[in-house]
Amino acid sequence: MRAIRFHEFGDPGVLRLDEIDRPVAGPGQVLVKVAATSFNPVDTGLRAGYLRQAMPVPLPHTPGVDVAGTTEDGRQVIGFLPMTAPGAAAEWVAAPAELLTDAPRTLALADAAAVPAVALTAWQGLFEHAGLQAGQRILINGAGGGVGGYAVQFAKAAGAHVLATASARSAATVREQGADEIVDYTAGPVADAVTEPVDAVFNLVRADDATMAALVRLVRPGGVVVTATSPAPEDAERKVRTISMYVRSDAAQLAQIVERIDAGTVRVDVSARYPLADLARVHEASEAGELRGKVVIEVA
Ligand SMILES: NC(=O)c1ccc[n+]([C@@H]2O[C@H](COP(=O)([O-])OP(=O)(O)OC[C@H]3O[C@@H](n4cnc5c(N)ncnc54)[C@H](OP(=O)(O)O)[C@@H]3O)[C@@H](O)[C@H]2O)c1
Repeated sequence: MRAIRFHEFGDPGVLRLDEIDRPVAGPGQVLVKVAATSFNPVDTGLRAGYLRQAMPVPLPHTPGVDVAGTTEDGRQVIGFLPMTAPGAAAEWVAAPAELLTDAPRTLALADAAAVPAVALTAWQGLFEHAGLQAGQRILINGAGGGVGGYAVQFAKAAGAHVLATASARSAATVREQGADEIVDYTAGPVADAVTEPVDAVFNLVRADDATMAALVRLVRPGGVVVTATSPAPEDAERKVRTISMYVRSDAAQLAQIVERIDAGTVRVDVSARYPLADLARVHEASEAGELRGKVVIEVA
């Protein structure tokens, strides 16, 4: 089968199209014929080797933590695969059965690869970590990205008042997703543009300590900052909690998200689709800051 792999850490040029044996499903695994995977920013860190301490991948490694595909018994599934196991940038992947959920019926199967990792991050960030409630004000910093697109929709559906950052290229999408107020982060510091305190900040952007501290100051006493990237400083005096989150795979949560997609209450935005052989180009585009939204890598 065809698989993209890297045999050493390095720049996007280390991603090679290899012809390898089809994997064999181990205990608890099922073989999935891959329709598509997606690009996630973590793929860059895994490939470049920055994350080799935290997430050691045996080499050669096949990237692709999201999968949309078909099991050997014909079930269409999606899932968020373990970070360090061989991924779905290949024609077949051996996936833990317990991590798979039925794919949405209302989407092209390949486009469903745009869902698992980012939608689970949004769900867990808002509901498990921030404990978001109806009527609360939340700032989503980095709403123009893959996670942000779901976070805005989930927060709005939960009855929150949503402030969302977006540059010009993403502003219309983020507004359609339900943002009440848009903050153009290219016009000046985000913290300066938010004039009323918020109950929660969901941070999806890498930022320096001063920027993170300014985000913490936007939160009312007793509120919370959840960050999926840079750590946020504590503010014990004002009892603002700060939480660094790490997404985990959860098939039951993913099933709830799929239900919303099929009910038409959550929209899946795919900003671009590339063939498997172009994965290195996608990594290059990401590093050049040229990607926006969620990019699907079509395999079948
Ligand atoms: N800890 C975890 O468990 C976890 C899980 C998933 C993701 N992450 C991390 O979370 C981050 C977001 O992930 P993602 O998949 O959503 O990434 P993504 O799709 O690559 O997000 C890129 C978006 O970020 C926005 N952006 C860039 N610089 C910004 C700034 N200074 N201020 C505000 N927005 C800015 C841009 O929006 P515009 O289009 O508006 O310019 C861009 O579209 C990544 O760093 C990723 O590694 C962490």
